[in-house]
This record gives sequence, structure tokens and C-alpha cells, in this order.
Amino acid sequence: ISKIAVLTSGGDAPGMNPCIRAVVRTAIFNGLEVTGIKQGYKGMIEDDMQDMQRRSVSNILNLGGTILKTARCMEFHTDEGMEKAYQNLKKRGIQALVVIGGDGTFTGALRFSKKYPDIKVIGVPGTIDNDLYGSTYTLGFDTATNTVIDAIDKIRDTADAHDRLFFIEVMGRDSGAIALRAGICCGAEAILLPEKETAIEDLIKGLKGGEYDTKTSSIVIVAEGDKNGGVYDIAQKVKKEVTHYDIKVTILGHLQRGGAPSAFDRILGSRLGFAAVNALIKGESQQMVGLEANVIRLVSLEKALNQKDKFKLEDDLLEMAHVLSI
Ligand code: F6P
Repeated sequence: ISKIAVLTSGGDAPGMNPCIRAVVRTAIFNGLEVTGIKQGYKGMIEDDMQDMQRRSVSNILNLGGTILKTARCMEFHTDEGMEKAYQNLKKRGIQALVVIGGDGTFTGALRFSKKYPDIKVIGVPGTIDNDLYGSTYTLGFDTATNTVIDAIDKIRDTADAHDRLFFIEVMGRDSGAIALRAGICCGAEAILLPEKETAIEDLIKGLKGGEYDTKTSSIVIVAEGDKNGGVYDIAQKVKKEVTHYDIKVTILGHLQRGGAPSAFDRILGSRLGFAAVNALIKGESQQMVGLEANVIRLVSLEKALNQKDKFKLEDDLLEMAHVLSI
């Protein structure tokens, strides 16, 4: 191959910029031309792309977001959208793609490369949700977790000052990865996760007395994918039964996706971008680069998307969090 392109798609994640930098520089180092596609698949369809040089990616290691911008593009899921995108790549002589994103991005990439196998595709797991099989950590998860911890520590201060109980909703879509880690790091009294149902009655029992009866403030972390009807609903139900606390709700929202990438995400982004280009040079396609046991490995996009135990919640961590919060 002589010319590749790189895009970011779906929700942005801190570490995407270090990854773009690694893709561009690894490509140039190996004598390849490299094009940056704007706003993910939208830019592929609308031909919004520009050639990148080694200096196009200067001073971006420390930036959150993505210099290529990102989008969720419905048109790419149609045959017409894909055909337009394909024609634009052909016109520009682009033979291979590095797509940085989560499961929506990979679903599109896999369908596209099955339809047009002459375009090679390598995926980089870039999502704060940590919900892809084949990589113990996804890009952005570490930074997002640290951002959440920083926010909850601050809430703990005011919760303690007022003797309040806070319900804090964190992101993660159907994954409780951020919630579980943040719960351990912030000493949450309870963590509600999509992977493990907690009955509201049990939560109330715990908060009412028994284990927590001498506590003056409490934090309950609710993953957004939890199936108890949402953080406000849960707080309402608890309010009726738990009367010794003033109860507040905080939804952390999109602040969790921003900010400078952590050291871990800068290194992971660099490693994954470097590995993605090297995989393309070796002729690989329809694969994801992932980190397992601190080694970069390839796993098929098919498997990354469909392996059922994608994110296996660590039961031992949840049990430990419970014991340590008494
Ligand atoms: O996938 C990343 C993520 O931040 C999820 O945790 C969240 O459910 C979703 O994206 C929010 O998407 P949007 O930014 O489009 O509202």
C-alpha cells in the first residue's frame, strides 16, 4: 500500500489525538501518504478530507477531543452512503483505513470492508466505555475514570459538609466499567451497574441502617445503563424510605469525555496507532488492534463486536468494593 486514511467516529475519547499522531507519523516514517478524514464517516461521504504531514500532528498529544472531529453518521449505514464514501476513497487513491472508535464505528467498518474488500481496514478501540472484546482497556477509559474520580471527590467534600446522600450518574452506555472503578476509588457506599442487578429494596436496606448506620454522608454511583429506571427515579424511591439524609442527584454528563489524556491513554493511543499502521503494512484487514496483558494483539473486528462476554465485569472487584465500604 502507498496511501492510507485515518478517521475518528462515534463519541470522542481522550487519547484519540495521540493515536492520530501515531498513525500519521508511523505512516510517513514508512513512506506512506496519509489523509485525515473529517467527522468520521460523514467526511468520507462528503469528501471532507485533507492530506496530513508530520507537522499536521504537532502539539496535539495533550489535547482532549479529536483534531479530525467526529460524528455519528446514519447515512453510512445505507448502501448509497457507503458507495459515495467508496468512490471518494478511490478517487483519492486511498487503499486502507484506520478507524478509531467504538462498536458503532466498527460495525460500519466491517460492513464497509466486506462490501469493498479492496479497502483494508484496521480498527482502534477508542471509547470511554471500555466495552470491546479484545482489549483490556479502550482508549479514553483511563482518562474518563480519572475525571469522574476528580468530580466525585469534590462532591464527597460537600456531601460530608452537609451530611448528604448523593446519587451520581456516570457514563458508559451498557457498560459499568467506569462506575465500578470510580466506586472503588471514591469509596462509594453502593455501585449500581447494568451487568449486575441491584434491587432497590436491598439498596434501601443498606442505606437505612445496618452496615452504614454510623455514616454521615454517602455516595451511590449509578451507571447510566443501570436497569432501575434512571438516577432520579432511584433517588425518589430511596427518599421515601431513607429519611435521615438529605438526598441530591448529580449527573456528570459530557465533562467525562473531555480533558487532557492521561499518561496511560497517551501511551495506549500511541501504541495502538503505531500498531494499526504496521498491521496495514503487513496486509492485515478487518482486525482491531487491542491491548491484552500489556501486549498489543490483533483480534478480528467480528470477534471484537460479537464476543458475548465483551466486557466481563470483575465480580471480585464488586465484592471488594462492598466489603471496603462498610
Ligand atoms: O460511547 C461513549 C458515550 O459517552 C457513552 O458513554 C454515552 O452513552 C454516549 O457516548 C453519549 O453519546 P452522545 O455524546 O452522542 O450523547
